[in-house]
Amino acid sequence: MTAPLRTSLRLGPLLVLPLLLAGCDGGFWSSEPEHRERTDNPEILARGENLYQQYCVACHGENREGAENWRQPDEQGNWPPPPLDGSAHTWHHPWWQLKDMIRYGGQARGGTMPSFEEQIDEEDAEAIIYWLQSHWPDEVYEAWLEYDRNTPTPEDWEEATGEEWVTHAH
Ligand code: HEC
Repeated sequence: MTAPLRTSLRLGPLLVLPLLLAGCDGGFWSSEPEHRERTDNPEILARGENLYQQYCVACHGENREGAENWRQPDEQGNWPPPPLDGSAHTWHHPWWQLKDMIRYGGQARGGTMPSFEEQIDEEDAEAIIYWLQSHWPDEVYEAWLEYDRNTPTPEDWEEATGEEWVTHAH
């Protein structure tokens, strides 16, 4: 009788710790990794698609193909909108970073994508990502998942890449 009791007493504090950590909400920059799986929930996908058609299609294209010459800066030195269909480097951005890009655009990093802070809330941005990812080839999605798991927070990403993530998010 005593042995199991002593074990559970010793494990008690360990079991409480994750609950305490989960309660610490760091706001937009949640330090809790958010692991996501693709969804086939039709409501979420429809929401993502509608938002894309409304706010993104003009630049990123009807089939998410991006600008034709997206690999080269234009005469002003600006990068054209890249594809979001899985053929470019979108998979190289973890979940939190995609959300940041979609809500706050690229201007904090010298890009030209506008901010959608007023129009697109966090759940909207997530719906768009789910919808975009529902079209990615499986191997691209798998590669993204691994990238996302390796860089689940801005701190992890900065450590892994040696780059600083500049953002207008607050
Ligand atoms: C006015 C044109 C424009 C609009 C509208 C626009 N984007 Fe962009 N987007 C860009 C450009 C240009 C870039 C490249 C980075 C930069 O210059 O800011 C980019 C980059 C991105 C990236 C990073 C892709 C990568 O591979 O690095 C994502 C993700 C993205 N946009 C998603 C969206 C979504 C989702 C919407 C709609 C809510 C949207 N964009 C609306 C122009 C636009």
